[in-house]
Amino acid sequence: MATIIGSVTTSHVAAIGRAIEKGLQDEPYWKPFFAGFGPVREWLARARPDVVVVIYNDHGLNFFLDKLPTFAIGAAPRYTSADEGWNIPTVLPFAGDPDLSWHIINSVVGEDFDITTCQEMVVDHAVCNPMALLWPGGQPWPVSIVPVEVNTVQFPLPSAARCYQLGAAVGRAIASYPADKRVLVMGTGGLSHQLDGERAGFINKEFDHEFMASLIADPTWVTKYSTVELVEKTGSQGIELMLWLAARAALTAGGPGAVREVTSTYHVPISNTAAGLMLLEPVP
Ligand SMILES: [Fe+2]
Repeated sequence: MATIIGSVTTSHVAAIGRAIEKGLQDEPYWKPFFAGFGPVREWLARARPDVVVVIYNDHGLNFFLDKLPTFAIGAAPRYTSADEGWNIPTVLPFAGDPDLSWHIINSVVGEDFDITTCQEMVVDHAVCNPMALLWPGGQPWPVSIVPVEVNTVQFPLPSAARCYQLGAAVGRAIASYPADKRVLVMGTGGLSHQLDGERAGFINKEFDHEFMASLIADPTWVTKYSTVELVEKTGSQGIELMLWLAARAALTAGGPGAVREVTSTYHVPISNTAAGLMLLEPVP
């Protein structure tokens, strides 16, 4: 049976791709962010995932505002990256895992989630940058991926409670997959930030820290807030933290859902964003 080995949640700021391209990882501005991934990579070397289920939001590359599913799951044999407008270099294609994708799709639709199924899909910085942080220079990628896309871009957005439920359903689907695979769940985006409007530059450290702490011991804590309240508290793009929540919820599959924090960092600012990183693993 497949095993969920843990969750990695991280910001996916577009500028990370440019910093990698220019080799800025040790520059004072970037070092506090990039240095946080050392312990994650050490853990990955021991944990040896076969597949990464990436819960993320598309930024207008694969879906645009005219056609925007609430939830979409990739079922493609490969996923190519493309630049959605930030002039970030593309990366080598990711291998898909269509069998696992269809298993997850069938399972979550069986639990009454209405999923858009994508047998072709391109992926943007929200997939590519976190993957490049976990496996820098490691291309071709040592893992396959299953993209799980959530609309955090245009209202109406799914609620935090619904994102939690989706993540838990994805976790149950993975745990019931009959093949012997080691699966890492990744949630990308956040933490608090707002890129435009009167509150451009808005960051809420206090809320971010409370949210990160809640993921360890009280993961449904943030589901008490509506999407509008979360935008108020975290910024119009900070609401991407719901993708962290969904990834954390996947660890509740098949047990009480207790987790242990392997490592975490929080650094402000990276490109007007509160950049966070957490690696959690299930407690048997
Ligand atoms: Fe984003």
